[in-house]
Amino acid sequence: MKYQTIIVLLCCFNSLFYKTRADYVNAYYSTETETCTGEVVQILSVLAGACTSNSIVECDYPNNQLVTTVYNDDECTSYAYSYNTAINECVALSTRNCTTDIPQPINTYTVMTFSDDCSQQKYPLSVATYPLDLCYQIAQPDFEFYYNSCNSTYLTLNQYDDYASIGSSSGSSPICYENQYLSSIQYIHVTDNTQCQPSEILYTCNQ
Ligand SMILES: *[C@@H]1O[C@H](CO)[C@@H](O)[C@H](O)[C@H]1NC(C)=O
Ligand SMILES: *[C@@H]1O[C@H](CO)[C@@H](O)[C@H](O)[C@H]1NC(C)=O
Repeated sequence: MKYQTIIVLLCCFNSLFYKTRADYVNAYYSTETETCTGEVVQILSVLAGACTSNSIVECDYPNNQLVTTVYNDDECTSYAYSYNTAINECVALSTRNCTTDIPQPINTYTVMTFSDDCSQQKYPLSVATYPLDLCYQIAQPDFEFYYNSCNSTYLTLNQYDDYASIGSSSGSSPICYENQYLSSIQYIHVTDNTQCQPSEILYTCNQ
């Protein structure tokens, strides 16, 4: 009798737990793109099982791999092909794994993109995380250099380019690396409230 009660409790607790958690598939890009062993400078995460960018990624824990299914359409209805990727191995500039929460290391900022229907999907479909107060270069989209900082209301994104690429120096003084100049500054409003808002992109600072 007691045993049965425990089983029932376990079952129900488990299903509750499953409904309130979300698996994320994360790709970690580090300063060492060959070995992936350097400081992490970019984490790109997608919600497991959700259709994003024509594909669905699932965490196959027993086989320690990710299964990516690619579709011909945006709604992920017309199957194209699928492939597996090993977990925690350095493949194509990054290592990947699954976590039950969005990875938000301290001293980073996070960009969350939500679905167009929060009643269908309240978790962010895709998430990107980047360092604060560090000069770094990222592989995606184009090996650009950045230095970002946050205060309570704004995220400041400083982007740098090489002097060589434009052939002459412009006014601003470089604070990232030598031979670089500040090519753009963006100020972005940050929020602590990361509840789903349809099709929104929310920025949050993890300090
Ligand atoms: C996922 O990978 C990151 C970066 O390599 C690592 O810090 C983290 O501990 C890993 N988490 C799991 C659950 O494997
Ligand atoms: C936060 O940073 C922005 C952009 O640099 C600045 O305009 C604003 O005054 C700062 N706010 C606080 C509270 O420091």
